[in-house]
Amino acid sequence: MAAVPGDRASTWRTSYTRVRKNPFTPVDRTNRARLRALGVDVVGLGGSWLDVGAGDGNLTATLLGMGAARVTSVEVQHELAERVPGGAAVVVGDARHLPLSGGWASVAVLMDVLHHVAVDELDGVLAEVARVLRPGGHLLVCEPAPTVVRTVLTVLLESPLASLSQFSRDKRRMVELEADTLVPWLADEPGFVRRASAAGFELTHTARRPIHTLRRFRRTS
Ligand SMILES: C[S@@+](CC[C@H](N)C(=O)[O-])C[C@H]1O[C@@H](n2cnc3c(N)ncnc32)[C@H](O)[C@@H]1O
Repeated sequence: MAAVPGDRASTWRTSYTRVRKNPFTPVDRTNRARLRALGVDVVGLGGSWLDVGAGDGNLTATLLGMGAARVTSVEVQHELAERVPGGAAVVVGDARHLPLSGGWASVAVLMDVLHHVAVDELDGVLAEVARVLRPGGHLLVCEPAPTVVRTVLTVLLESPLASLSQFSRDKRRMVELEADTLVPWLADEPGFVRRASAAGFELTHTARRPIHTLRRFRRTS
């Protein structure tokens, strides 16, 4: 929601907050499963982690709970940044111009963030993450994928039955408010690896899920 004016961003935050706290989809369990799929065991928790687009800090909390030694969390919405749990260094800032020095992070993780970025600004975000990572550092990315399952779920979210559940109403509202960047992201998603490669990243691992793709890259230069 970086470029979205106040009212829409506030509505989005309300739905995001309820969805992340939904007891039927425990976010810590989901985060741990995603981190395992991204290869947390390969990259290790001992280095300096950068959680870009940290939102309310739920992934930061998972990383700290798993024993990450140093986590820096960057979030553009100060209303969310102030909820990031203690134990992390919190930076209110924009991934397009990271207010951080270069060459120190061991791992950068972007969880459900890049589909909030305009397609023509993705290369700039990747260049910024590459700048802050040390050579050989890892980039972990989990983003929506243009799958058949996602298409079916999106149609189901529009059905009257979906209105019966607060969770579905929130999901639908988020999809609507994210559409400006989500729809172009999904159309462009197959080209993401090429973009990352142009920014100096080598793809080292891919895990496909019904509605997401998770990828690990290594910064080559
Ligand atoms: C769907 S949320 C995901 C948050 C968190 N990673 C999680 O998994 O719960 C996307 C987050 O990215 C943030 N974001 C979007 N564009 C950003 C940018 N250019 N710089 C920093 N954060 C950004 C949004 O404000 C939002 O909190």
